[in-house]
Amino acid sequence: MNRKNIYISAMVTSLLAASVMGASTMVFAHGGAKGIVKERMDMMKSLADSMKELKGMMQNKATYDANKVREAAKVIKSHASDKMTKLFPKGSGHKPSEALPAVWSDWDKFKDLADKLSTYAGTLEAAADNASGPGQGSMMKDGGGMMKGNPMMQGNPMMQGGGMMGGAMQDPEALKSMPPMASFMKISQTCSSCHTDFRLKKKEK
Ligand code: HEC
Repeated sequence: MNRKNIYISAMVTSLLAASVMGASTMVFAHGGAKGIVKERMDMMKSLADSMKELKGMMQNKATYDANKVREAAKVIKSHASDKMTKLFPKGSGHKPSEALPAVWSDWDKFKDLADKLSTYAGTLEAAADNASGPGQGSMMKDGGGMMKGNPMMQGNPMMQGGGMMGGAMQDPEALKSMPPMASFMKISQTCSSCHTDFRLKKKEK
């Protein structure tokens, strides 16, 4: 092969690789992620799995099961607060991480959201038995629309700071005696607020 051909074949190879990767945004997003960045991506994915399970029950798409709700709440709690922030050491915002520099320049706010996640996971755990039977989640049937992954919601000020769920709903003690949906909403809002401020915005997520 002469020089030119080597060049062309390298180009074809990388174009092919790019299109294969483009076909799966997950592969693309995770390409090369290792160490602590991979660890926190995996942790976030496990949060997403728990939220998915909860969402199904909150929307009455799956049978409500207080034990499962408690379990999912525990999983979320186990990844929140210090457990979450310790996976964001200074200087770990490089590619392929989607964490914004704001994580480190606005650390107190970031930490506060990680703490809130723990608080609301705790209130959900406490509230799991509050209501049962059909209709449980109907208070806000499409509450799951605020799930972290919905980019439409990410820039919406209504979804941040609990605008829709102000007053008593902000109070963790009160949340414990409310339907589990109320705590679920707060968790979902906490995921979204943090992603809005601290995660790179991407269409596919
Ligand atoms: C305190 C801030 C914060 C909270 C709270 C938070 N996240 Fe994240 N999340 C991030 C950051 C920052 C990233 C980007 C991490 C990276 O790429 O290094 C991320 C990434 C993700 C990802 C993508 C992971 C990947 O595979 O690349 C998912 C999914 C996710 N979060 C789900 C959730 C869910 C669900 C919740 C709530 C239960 C949640 N997050 C709560 C900050 C947060």
